[in-house]
Amino acid sequence: MEKLTMGLVLSITALISCFSPLHVLAQWPGGRSTRFYDFKVQTTRITKLCNTKDIVTVNGMYPGPVVYAQEDDRVIVKVTNESPYNVTIHWHGIRQMLSCWSDGPSYITQCPIQAGQSFTYEFTLVKQKGTLFWHAHVSWLRATVHGAIVMYPKTGVPYPFTYPYEEHIIILGEYWLKDVVQLEKAVLASGGGPPPADAFTINGHPGPNYNCSNNDVYEIDVVPGKTYLLRLINAGLNTENFFSIANHRMTVVEADGEYTKPFTTDRVMLGPGQTMNVLVTADQPIGKYSMAMGPYMSAQGVPFQNISAIAYFQYLGALPTSLSLPARLPTFNDNLAVKTVMDGLRSLNSGNVPKEIDQNLFYTIGLNVQQCHSPTPQQNCQGLNNGTMAASMNNISFVKPKISLLEAYYNRINGQFTEDFPGVPLKFYDFVNGAPNNIPNNTQSMIGTRTFVLEYGTRVQLILQNTGTVTTENHPIHLHGYSFYVVGYGSGNYNPQTTQFNLVDPPYLNVIGVPVGGWAAIRFVADNPGVWFMHCHIDIHM
Ligand code: C2O
Repeated sequence: MEKLTMGLVLSITALISCFSPLHVLAQWPGGRSTRFYDFKVQTTRITKLCNTKDIVTVNGMYPGPVVYAQEDDRVIVKVTNESPYNVTIHWHGIRQMLSCWSDGPSYITQCPIQAGQSFTYEFTLVKQKGTLFWHAHVSWLRATVHGAIVMYPKTGVPYPFTYPYEEHIIILGEYWLKDVVQLEKAVLASGGGPPPADAFTINGHPGPNYNCSNNDVYEIDVVPGKTYLLRLINAGLNTENFFSIANHRMTVVEADGEYTKPFTTDRVMLGPGQTMNVLVTADQPIGKYSMAMGPYMSAQGVPFQNISAIAYFQYLGALPTSLSLPARLPTFNDNLAVKTVMDGLRSLNSGNVPKEIDQNLFYTIGLNVQQCHSPTPQQNCQGLNNGTMAASMNNISFVKPKISLLEAYYNRINGQFTEDFPGVPLKFYDFVNGAPNNIPNNTQSMIGTRTFVLEYGTRVQLILQNTGTVTTENHPIHLHGYSFYVVGYGSGNYNPQTTQFNLVDPPYLNVIGVPVGGWAAIRFVADNPGVWFMHCHIDIHM
């Protein structure tokens, strides 16, 4: 019998094995009922900001259709690609217990679905409830190919909080006037950073702050005195975002598909890939209140969209023509506001936080500038110091393989990846203030398609350490196939001597926003065989 191992693809690392098919049959999670969905990926004409263009959608919808299911349900989605682009769909945050082939990241667990082809995803929502989302996991198509996953508790099991009068999905997004596939190609070819989005959007609507967008506003009509559940999702590509509602507080009750202790706040921050359920009570004078989405930009010298997307939280009885009360957002670099939200996230029930650790890992995360090798540097080396921008873990930048790592592993196809991703940086130095290479101004990374292999059952602790190689920045790091306990985080370089971990009620998340110039510690048990991608959810870093 094959040895049971599991792995993580850490942007560079990846993992390893699925059970042989017979074992899978015996242990496949059953699921209670089965939900079928039919997704047609197609191009759809849309007009926004006085500009008409074709975007890629699922079933002509932007945002796309909602997948509704209950805890422990089986979900089957047939995806047919009627668009001219390569496509895959990822079910972000779904554990994919023993269903790694259905995870969806292109070139990690599958090759893309080509134009005219289809692929059927099948998975079970093992013990999951709350809000997650699905998105395209190929090029920048996620910008318009995304939608909510709403997972209700089992029948007869109540929410562990006030039953809301109504529920609403709020998807934060970024919109580009240019074709995003072309745009990504152009950005990668330039070697420089991505241009800011032309607009932020709330459920696809930029709102009145943008030119030619006065009537393109999302609105929730509320009954005075009632409590609403808002399912917040950040489906944006490259920007982390604050969200707030004028004169109303929000009580966070769930994050990344897991219940949290109720925590009341004026604003939240969601990086790309993060989801959060909040309760809001319409307890203010009858009126029209703004809901605002604005940037959190912790990096230095990076251009970003600074105009907020606005939606309305409008009381029944308010005049539609009345002016909306403005929502207050933190300034774009308010790191303390971000920390306050993080500090408030605690698991509702203390879960099975691993107390003993078998494998200690330490990954640095950050940006790099590679030397220019192009014969046409004006065109291709528009990064800092006339180089090309890159991102890395343990100073290794990921090179996409030619076929998916899972297929390469399973079919024993050599030459696609190596199993030598280092468990700790090759060199320890002052990560936040220094540079990894001999010459202090050499900020290059190595490149490779390297995976880290974990034995099945390993109890893992992973320290994620932000580097200041180019600029420090908050990175929303996402692990596929798992949720993990965030047992600690802080600013500066991680120091085990002075660190106290929370092993009592740490939040159980699938994305951790590693603090700018700081670190985060996560723990999980490697109990899900597969090849799992781990990456920054800011697309340009992936
Ligand atoms: Cu939501 Cu690999 O991503």
